[in-house]
Amino acid sequence: NIPPGPKPWPFIGNFGQFLIPGFISKRFRGRRGKHDQTKPVSLSPQVFLMELSKYYGNIYSLFIGNQLIVVLTGYEVVRDALSNRADVFSDRPDVPVVTIMTKRKGIVFAPYGAVWRQQRKFCHATLRSFGLGKLSLEPCILEELAVVKAELLRACGEAAGATVDPAPLISNAVSNVISSISFGQRFQQGDREFRTLLDLMARGLELCVNSPAVLINVFPWLYYLPFGAFGEIRQVERDITVFLKEIIARHRSSLDPGNPRDLIDMYLVEVAQQQQSAEAGETSFSEDYLFYIIGDLFIAGTDTTTNSILWILLYMSIYPDIQEKVQAEIDSVVGSDRVPSLTDKASLPFTEATIMEVQRMTVVVPLAIPHMASETTVFRGYTIPKGTVIIPNLWSVHRDPTMWDNPDDFNPYRFLDQNGQIVRKESFIPFGIGRRLCMGEQLAKMELFLMFSNLMQAFSFRLPDGLPPPAMGGRFGLTLAPCPYTVHITPRGHRPSRTT
Ligand code: HEM
Repeated sequence: NIPPGPKPWPFIGNFGQFLIPGFISKRFRGRRGKHDQTKPVSLSPQVFLMELSKYYGNIYSLFIGNQLIVVLTGYEVVRDALSNRADVFSDRPDVPVVTIMTKRKGIVFAPYGAVWRQQRKFCHATLRSFGLGKLSLEPCILEELAVVKAELLRACGEAAGATVDPAPLISNAVSNVISSISFGQRFQQGDREFRTLLDLMARGLELCVNSPAVLINVFPWLYYLPFGAFGEIRQVERDITVFLKEIIARHRSSLDPGNPRDLIDMYLVEVAQQQQSAEAGETSFSEDYLFYIIGDLFIAGTDTTTNSILWILLYMSIYPDIQEKVQAEIDSVVGSDRVPSLTDKASLPFTEATIMEVQRMTVVVPLAIPHMASETTVFRGYTIPKGTVIIPNLWSVHRDPTMWDNPDDFNPYRFLDQNGQIVRKESFIPFGIGRRLCMGEQLAKMELFLMFSNLMQAFSFRLPDGLPPPAMGGRFGLTLAPCPYTVHITPRGHRPSRTT
């Protein structure tokens, strides 16, 4: 009694069926009306999967080859699985190409269990300590912002404004925050060594999901072929290894255990302590593991945050009335002779509501990271066998008509009460829900708030004259990114001299 779904074909399952014109639309006709010409195959995966749920229900199954995949749709079902049944649905599947690259170490792709728990607990606590102690992240984010603002002002020159692509600047700033946390240093815009590391990581991911290297998932021996995407993926892996191992070695040789500079130092201190207190072989903390943790922080923490900020700037360019209201709030609470800081957040509810509404509309990790059932279980009347891949459609949660009025409309006011104060909504879950909830949620919220409020204080954004907005469905890759766009920026003439 597994969940219903389209009938799989032998060997390939449902893979490829959806590319056949009419395969799905025939099945949708009853529900969507026969004049509905929408072609599901042209929709992004998260929208397409939500469309399928209209036919098969909120819990349905698909097969890729003979791998059973269960897709969860809507808030109730997603919460029920990831939160109420977290003991069963918190594992990660063993995807060969990912396993080869990560050895299932680190946090993101690590199997659910004691090692994942120890590592996550340590990293989570370390990130939290950055919010408080001398390694405080707020000045670090503000320093990055100062660079972004200076570059934007430079682009404007003496003119009243300029048209820019904000992506490289924002991406550099966000990557530098992760770099400061991990390596204790930021890199100059255009730094070749750092750019190479970021490019290698992006290329490695691209190869894993969007190149012939995905065939490694079916034929793992392809990984050893010396040419094409297969040779390249191994080269990328080697280059990243050399880069990170060198940085870890430099940290080890200059480590002062009483005075850790960054996450690498803190981890090395933990490795030493654990090795002293635990029997040999009992601890999961090792320099080898640290290597994968750093990779995870960059992979999970850069694209997600960068794309969220890019989405917010795009929405502000398209909704000038909302942008003006955010600016008016910042002007009245913060003024113009200092920059917004985290302590202002509680006094800027409309600004926060706007960030939340863009996150609701866009969901940069729309299908979360695949989960896996760690044992056979019965869930809402269906049997879910051990090893089933679980896809929680977070995008569908944010468009769930039972939880949101007019879910397709952009409306920051939905997060405000009658007094203009923030209302927390349980079905707002851009960072996921349950035990695999995003580990960087607090850091990401800090970055989104500081970057958005500071940029709104300093500049106005609008679409360049005569250009239509980019397609608002975005580009589905590892994260949901806005389609490339340029914006016209105008400095607002505020030159804050103080940070607090
Ligand atoms: C996992 C969203 C930023 C670290 C996730 C998941 C989502 C998410 C949806 C998957 C949850 C699941 O599988 O159920 C976001 C968004 C971000 C963001 C929207 C920015 C706006 C960050 C940052 C970091 C980070 C800045 C770290 C510095 C992680 C890690 C995981 C994760 C380590 C894996 C957790 C685990 O498997 O236990 N994130 N994230 N994320 N995120 Fe984030």
